Amino acid sequence: MRHLFVTTALPYANGPFHIGHIMEYIQADIWVRFQRMLGNRVHFVCADDAHGAPIMLKAQDEGIEPEELIARIAADRPQYLQGFAISFDHWHSTHSPENVELSTDIYRKLKEAGLIYVKPVEQFFDPVKQMFLPDRYVKGECPKCHAKDQYGDACEVCSTVYAPTDLINPYSTLSGATPVRKVSDHYFFKLSDPRCIEFLDEWLGTPGRLQPAVANKAREWLKGEGEHALADWDISRDAPYFGIPMPDAPGKYFYVWLDAPVGYLASLKHYFDIGKARANGETRSFEEFMAAPEVEQIHFIGKDIIYFHTLFWPAMLKFAGRKVPNHVFVHGFITVSGAKMSKSRGTGISPLRYLELGMNPEWLRYYLAAKLNANVEDIDFNPEDFVARVNSDLVGKYVNIASRAAGFITKRFEGRVLPLDPTHEAATAKWSTLARERESRIRDYYEAREFGKAVREIMDLADEMNAAIDREKPWEIAKDATQTERLHRVCSDCIHAFRRLTLYLAPILPRTAEKAASFLGLSLPLRWSQLDEDAAGTIQPYTHLIQRVDPTLLDKLFESAPAAQTNAAASSSAAASASHRGEITIDDFNKLDLRIAKILKAETVEGADKLLKLTLDIGDAQRTVFAGIRAAYSPEQLTGRLTVVVANLKPRKMRFGVSEGMVLAAGPGGKDIFLLSPDAGATPGMKVK
Ligand code: 2FM
Ligand code: ZN
Repeated sequence: MRHLFVTTALPYANGPFHIGHIMEYIQADIWVRFQRMLGNRVHFVCADDAHGAPIMLKAQDEGIEPEELIARIAADRPQYLQGFAISFDHWHSTHSPENVELSTDIYRKLKEAGLIYVKPVEQFFDPVKQMFLPDRYVKGECPKCHAKDQYGDACEVCSTVYAPTDLINPYSTLSGATPVRKVSDHYFFKLSDPRCIEFLDEWLGTPGRLQPAVANKAREWLKGEGEHALADWDISRDAPYFGIPMPDAPGKYFYVWLDAPVGYLASLKHYFDIGKARANGETRSFEEFMAAPEVEQIHFIGKDIIYFHTLFWPAMLKFAGRKVPNHVFVHGFITVSGAKMSKSRGTGISPLRYLELGMNPEWLRYYLAAKLNANVEDIDFNPEDFVARVNSDLVGKYVNIASRAAGFITKRFEGRVLPLDPTHEAATAKWSTLARERESRIRDYYEAREFGKAVREIMDLADEMNAAIDREKPWEIAKDATQTERLHRVCSDCIHAFRRLTLYLAPILPRTAEKAASFLGLSLPLRWSQLDEDAAGTIQPYTHLIQRVDPTLLDKLFESAPAAQTNAAASSSAAASASHRGEITIDDFNKLDLRIAKILKAETVEGADKLLKLTLDIGDAQRTVFAGIRAAYSPEQLTGRLTVVVANLKPRKMRFGVSEGMVLAAGPGGKDIFLLSPDAGATPGMKVK
């Protein structure tokens, strides 16, 4: 028996799951369920990644403590995990006593090993917010191409990479203030130490540990030279910060990426400490378990966090005297109809909406499994393909085998299934031999996370069986009283085939497999070894196992459903009733891109006596907006003044041109319109919030 400690990446506790999270969980869950079916002992855990500046700032925006924010997000998790049948053994949080203890311990060990040093670092500091600004919270003019409103790390227009301190006219996106340079001491983990390099070289080079593409990428980073040389890692952040206080440096916290992976261990420790590991057959303590050489530690992650998991994390563990990961399994991203997803907005498929529509989670599990492989490749969710795949494979091929035979077995043979007889001359009788021959291949594909290949093998077998049924035509021989025995043979073969296919598909379709198990009289939990057991016996009356996908569901899935789609709060009952009262959440409000705009030009519009055509400077761009304010303002009154614009309003085609936003004004209309203006000091492009 293998002893497996398996994790998926810890999601940030600042928003609900998007489809990318669900895809990763489904991938890991299929593998874990397969391992359990083989009789291996798996401890499958995850946790919320609760620390860091974005979470602290989001809580501030909402006027709540970060603890309240992360608790709200945590309360939202189970409905997704249960909804998609993800079988984590435990879910915890990095904001936990276990994580404080483990992170502190690991840090102390690294320090004892001489791998921590302190160095002054100059950074931008927001004098209003009184905090150091992470790069993403500084914007300004690109030093190279002079594009306005570029982030502190790289220009989106000309792609130049620079330091935030290189920006021209930098400003803090938090307060709008001009940041000042300030020096403070930072703690570094000495990744460039020869001991680390030597260890990582060997760790990365262990055959079978990583996918080749991942090992190559990591080795490139490891061996980088000159400006690409491996950099030491800044592991401290100054207060105010939501994180774990450093034990020996008052006012300093561990950078969130230090305590995040330690959260894997913290979750496992908590799971041990509350007795869940024992309930799962593990009698050792957490520390004993993690010290045992046969225990395999395996992380499933996305391709964007390879650096952390193949360099920092193994080195941290190694030099803290702990077990190092046996495997890091990396997957690509999920696109929807070919479109890349945005980290903040997801893909347009809301997993919650999927569940709320009553869509079967196993449709998605199957569809993703059919597309997944062991490479670091993006996979695409295509709605038409989804409908076609699920309906043709699951309903048309797999379930069809049972539904074609079950009625006859129940009505004509009192539910009795004949034992297999591979020597029988019926076309259906040969199938079991073929299916057995393919078993080890299917098993190997699951093991290697080549789920798409496993699915193809399984569906090939289903095709073979359906073809054999078509040759035997049970619906015709059923009419011939002299053929009763053959009918029994053919239908029994169908049930045997369905049983075998059910076991093959069980890691992907756990709920369907359970339902099928009660129809087939298979004992639970399902085990791979049941493939070798004699399956003769009786079946229960057949009830339909999987519905077809109605394509209109996909239209509904893609219709915008604001409450379900964008925020966690909306799914909690408090927020749901708030929306009935017409209240919105802060997330709803944050969807508005309200900005200060400077009216560069105001012109009358021929043929439209109520409109003025405004040309606006909104910081990073110019916009044309048609506003119905001509009765209240003359063009001269407006030119040069500042106002507020909704910058992300869908452009509207008008008779005179396209209006690309809306300026904000108060009043009933006509002469009584009062354009908003900001107080002195605001500049074009500043966010209004
Ligand atoms: O990229 C992310 O979403 C991180 N929250 C992943 C952390 S994985 C682990 F290190 F905790
Ligand atoms: Zn630029």
